[in-house]
Amino acid sequence: MKELTQLTTKERQKQARIFNEKVLPGIFTQLTNFNPKLAREIKAHSEWYPFKEVVPESQIHCGDASTGKTTKVMAAVINWASLRCLTLQRVLSFEIIGFASLLQEIRNTFKSGSEVTTQQVIDKYKNVPLLVLDDIGTCDVRDWSYSVLYMIIDYRWGHEKRTFYTSNYTLDQLAEMWGDDRLPRRIGDMCNGNIFEV
Ligand SMILES: Nc1ncnc2c1ncn2[C@@H]1O[C@H](COP(=O)(O)OP(=O)(O)OP(=O)(O)O)[C@@H](O)[C@H]1O
Ligand SMILES: [Mg+2]
Repeated sequence: MKELTQLTTKERQKQARIFNEKVLPGIFTQLTNFNPKLAREIKAHSEWYPFKEVVPESQIHCGDASTGKTTKVMAAVINWASLRCLTLQRVLSFEIIGFASLLQEIRNTFKSGSEVTTQQVIDKYKNVPLLVLDDIGTCDVRDWSYSVLYMIIDYRWGHEKRTFYTSNYTLDQLAEMWGDDRLPRRIGDMCNGNIFEV
């Protein structure tokens, strides 16, 4: 890994070219699988993801529907990847998933005959360098899937792994809804300084 300041102009240009030609299309494929409409819109508006020389840290965007929260985290994924590519960090993998889909993915592993184990799902979301968890909302904290979710987020918090969140609720509202403030506290701690209420 290199610091941006250590790169020569030529190296920067080369990495920028690699990013635009080889990396960005793959990122857009993953963003399109997650949300084709938003991916198409972002693609048409490169000004929505201006290149920033600072790696986006863990962050949460809370607020009303259709205020651009998901678009912002998708743009932040592109910023994260472009900086990693520029600083010659090869691991660019990320996961982007809706909260309800993640809970469903966890629940599916409880079914007999599931080809994927709960542990595999936990490991995937624990270890990925960047996780985007979209639309955190209602969930039953008495459900076993909440315990699994807790394990994933607790691990990412403890290992300071970059995680972007969006929600229609504030962290206080989530804690109230869930009757449990352990997860909202951890999310708040990870995103310290990057809690945006739109
Ligand atoms: N930077 C931007 N400038 C202009 N329009 C934008 C911008 N970002 C998003 N939008 C528009 O706002 C719409 C809603 O954005 P998005 O889906 O990201 O909102 P959201 O806050 O995640 O909504 P929800 O809470 O329903 O998930 C998009 O379809 C897009 O057209
Ligand atoms: Mg959204």
